Formats: sequence, C-alpha cells, structure tokens
Amino acid sequence: MKILAIESSCDETAAAVVEDGRTVLSSVIASQVEEHRLYGGVVPEIASRRHAEAIVPVVSQALEQAGLALSDIDALAVTYAPGLIGALLVGVNFAKGLAMSTGLPLVPVHHLRSHIASNYISNQELKPPFLCLVVSGGHSHIVMVEDYTEMKIIGRTRDDAAGEAFDKAARTMGMPYPGGIALDKIAEDGDPHAFKLPRPTVHGAPYDFSFSGLKTAVINLIHNASQKGEALNKADVCASFRYAVVDCLTTNLVKAAEDMGVSKIVIAGGVSANSLLRKTLSQECRKRGWQFYMPEKSLCGDNAAMVGAQGYYEYLSGRTAGADLNAYATMSIEENGA
Ligand code: KG4
Ligand code: ZN
Repeated sequence: MKILAIESSCDETAAAVVEDGRTVLSSVIASQVEEHRLYGGVVPEIASRRHAEAIVPVVSQALEQAGLALSDIDALAVTYAPGLIGALLVGVNFAKGLAMSTGLPLVPVHHLRSHIASNYISNQELKPPFLCLVVSGGHSHIVMVEDYTEMKIIGRTRDDAAGEAFDKAARTMGMPYPGGIALDKIAEDGDPHAFKLPRPTVHGAPYDFSFSGLKTAVINLIHNASQKGEALNKADVCASFRYAVVDCLTTNLVKAAEDMGVSKIVIAGGVSANSLLRKTLSQECRKRGWQFYMPEKSLCGDNAAMVGAQGYYEYLSGRTAGADLNAYATMSIEENGA
C-alpha cells in the first residue's frame, strides 16, 4: 500500500511516499529554518505563509522522486496535531482538498506518533510493544507503545522540553537557532565533568522530567562568569550541560523500563539525534541485555516519511478522517480519534 504523506506542523514543509509503512519511495523536506533563525526562533505567521508557498511544489516533487502519479497512490496521510495551528492547517486543508479531488482515504496522524514511527523505517524488524523516549523541541515523554496505535504516557516533562532546554542554553552561548545540534557538536571537545550542574527530579513522579532548573543553572553560570569578566571554556559548558540532560533522560527511562519489566527500548524525536544520548542509551541497554533501537539521524527531525509510516498503521487500525477534519495545537499521544 502506497501512502502519500504530508507534514507541516512547525517549520518544515515535507511530503513523502511510503510503501507498507516501512519503505520510503521518496521524501522531500523544504526547511524554513534559515528564515526563522533571523528571529531566534520559529515565527508562526511566517511558518504558515511559507507552508502555503511550498506545499504544492513539495508534494509534486515527492511524487516525481517516487516515479509515481497520484493515481498510483492508495491513501493520504497528514499531520493534524500537535503543532503550530496555522502551520498544521495548511497541510490539513491541502490534504483534504487532495482527498476530495482524488477520492483517496485521508489518515490523520499525531506528530509524536509519527516520530516514533520513524523507527519502523530505520529498524525493519521493530514491532511493538516497546518503551519509547520521545524527545523533541516541544515534548519530552516516556511512552509505552503497546501497539502501533495504542500508547500510554509513563513520564513527561513538567516544564521545558529537552530540545527547548538545549536550544535556550545554546542561545545564551550565542549559537544560532535551533542550537541543539551546534551545542551537541561543540560538546564533543569538552569535559562533561568540568561544571557541576543539577539533576532535577520531580518528587513523587520518578519518570517525569524537569529541565527548567537545569537550563537556569547553566544560564546563571554563563551570566555570572561574564559579569566577573571570566572566560568560560564553551566546549566544557556544552559538554557539562549535555551530560546533565542526557543523564536525566537516561536515568528515568532506564528506571521506568526496569520497574515495568520492559527490555525493548526506542528513542525518537529531534533530540534523539544527540550523539551522547544515542551512545549512552546503547551502552546502558547493552549492559542489561536489552534491545535498543533508534532512527537514523536523517529521520530524527521533522519529515513526512515518518508520517507515511505511522499513517499506514493508523489506516490498518481503521482510522480515516472525514471532510470535517480539523487541526489541533495540542493533543495527547494517547488519544485515538479526532
Ligand atoms: O522533533 P523536532 O525536529 O521538532 C519538534 O517536533 O519539536 O525537534 C527539534 C528539536 C530542537 O529543539 C533541536 O535543537 C533538537 O531537536 N535537536 C537536538 C539535536 N538535533 C536536533 N538537540 C540536541 N542534540 C542534537 N544533536
Ligand atoms: Zn517533531
């Protein structure tokens, strides 16, 4: 079954054709990041306008790259939640128009579910159930993926998402938006033990995260040094911060897996591209004899191939949208049905 998938939840306009949820026939991403960088973050109004401009050429390119016509497609999938509402609406409305004109079924896809599904492309043998750490710019969840479309949140962040914390720390050090990738690279040359940073925990909720205190600690460290005219080693600050975030993520994930008796661990979302997170979790899982899966780096960030992958399983579970499909800025990953 060939699915044409569309993603427009944030600052990437993307389209892809995916066969049977696992094989990517094409994947096109038009990123707006350069433009948003000028403002230090995503400007929602600009994002919507750029999606409106890019969506037709991006979808046409995805079909062309796959060597297919619309008549070869069996279903459409579109990200409908969560995300920037104006951005989501561009993809949702375009997909509805396409569904009306072609008569193809339209499958609504939750953005975080699609991040998890990027793993079905990168790891062909992977099947639920498994425990997944979903870490992106807007969310940090530990999710029990019982089945392809059945999920339960085990832990979540109480304040900032991991990606947000990375981006804010990076911004304080003068790195361009989104700073997570740059911080990760610079950290490679630093000493993770150079600065002692806190490991915030949430009382009574051992699987929940809190990154805002950690973010403030690193920002204070940088500001205090600059007020005293002291030069901090940037690589050491990056390495210490990255180590602290990865430590919090790993500790809670491993604890949840141990308590629940789960031995199949998966990571997903933009932050799953983080080199230290990938290395640390592979080591921790290997030590315990657990299976560990991660998406290839090119599938960690927002793309439409992952939407096509999750769309396939949503379709198999009977989920299709009517002509009244709406977009939603917020929606729990547990929710089944708009
Ligand atoms: O999943 P994603 O592409 O978009 C959302 O759905 O939010 O995640 C983007 C986030 C940004 O905060 C970005 O800085 C972060 O993922 N990110 C990283 C790395 N690559 C991307 N954070 C840490 N290390 C990385 N290598
Ligand atoms: Zn995302």
